[in-house]
Amino acid sequence: MLQTLRQPWNELPPLSGPKREAAERAMRRQWWAVARSTDLDTPQPAVLLGERLVVYRTASGKPVVQSRRCPHRGGDFSQGKVHGEGIACPYHGWQFGSDGKCAHIPSLDNQSKIPGRATIATYPVIEKWGHVWTVLEQPAMPMYELDAWAGLDLEWLAGPPLDSETGVAVAIENFRDVAHFPFVHEVSMGPSPHIVEPLMVKREGLDIWMQRSLNAGNGDWANDGDCEMYYHCTAPGLATITYDYAKYGKRIVAGFPSPMAYDHVMIFWGVANERSYSGADIEECLRIEEMVYREDLPIAGALEPREVDWDGTYVEHSVPADLFTLNYRRAFNEFVGTALVEQAG
Ligand code: FES
Ligand SMILES: [Fe+2]
Repeated sequence: MLQTLRQPWNELPPLSGPKREAAERAMRRQWWAVARSTDLDTPQPAVLLGERLVVYRTASGKPVVQSRRCPHRGGDFSQGKVHGEGIACPYHGWQFGSDGKCAHIPSLDNQSKIPGRATIATYPVIEKWGHVWTVLEQPAMPMYELDAWAGLDLEWLAGPPLDSETGVAVAIENFRDVAHFPFVHEVSMGPSPHIVEPLMVKREGLDIWMQRSLNAGNGDWANDGDCEMYYHCTAPGLATITYDYAKYGKRIVAGFPSPMAYDHVMIFWGVANERSYSGADIEECLRIEEMVYREDLPIAGALEPREVDWDGTYVEHSVPADLFTLNYRRAFNEFVGTALVEQAG
């Protein structure tokens, strides 16, 4: 399908903005992963765009995302305990419900004297792809949805979150970049060609697709042999590859870097195999993808600047191998524009 959609890399419209400050405001209106579902046996700390959060699962199984700071004397709820449908502060035991209201103060003999304004910020939650997602302000977009996966019977396995000293856009661009394979991934992928073929890239709004053939090298990454790779990225924060093996079926890797700060992400990610996938088992697929990620971290984490230079302060030159990246930047730009226009309206 993508063959007809190849875009000459140098015929893209010029990029205008967004400026860093606009990007930061827009990102507050986007869904981001903040915890793995499997880690919620105990309350988990998270940071999203500078907001310190706690993520926990109530007794009835509902995931909750709230401000991590107790409004009594600043206790850290991620050190607290779940109580029924809420959480108790580790310091003096004040309990807050999943609606954010203070429900119990142990030191009070009369619970009707709970200060009415003792509440904690409580954020919307979606649980999807093995992770808990939240949004700090009125969401500008619905939660990510990929039509290509709709008919697949998938088993998900979340990888260990990876702390990366890059911004969201740099993290996504790294995941999509193909020209770095022979230099960064020689161990996981084996030797791969330096020359990048004309890339087949398509963009519609916030979505960018790219199709490539994987010619199995001798690295672990290609253990299951040749396949077609379908890259799909949705701005600002979702990057996926669906690997289609004629012999075995489909498997997926998906990354969702989450901005702890503008230029510092926690990369949440996972793999998913069709339940009928007959290649490597899902643990092995996770191991290989983690190997690839860990090869990237030191290189991506040392890039200057740490986030895409939307304000145009740094010199950068692009070549045809950057076609996916250039399209992603336009999609990111469109996301920021949409989020802020809606907000103004
Ligand atoms: S600081 Fe949380 S109960 Fe006192
Ligand atoms: Fe990489």
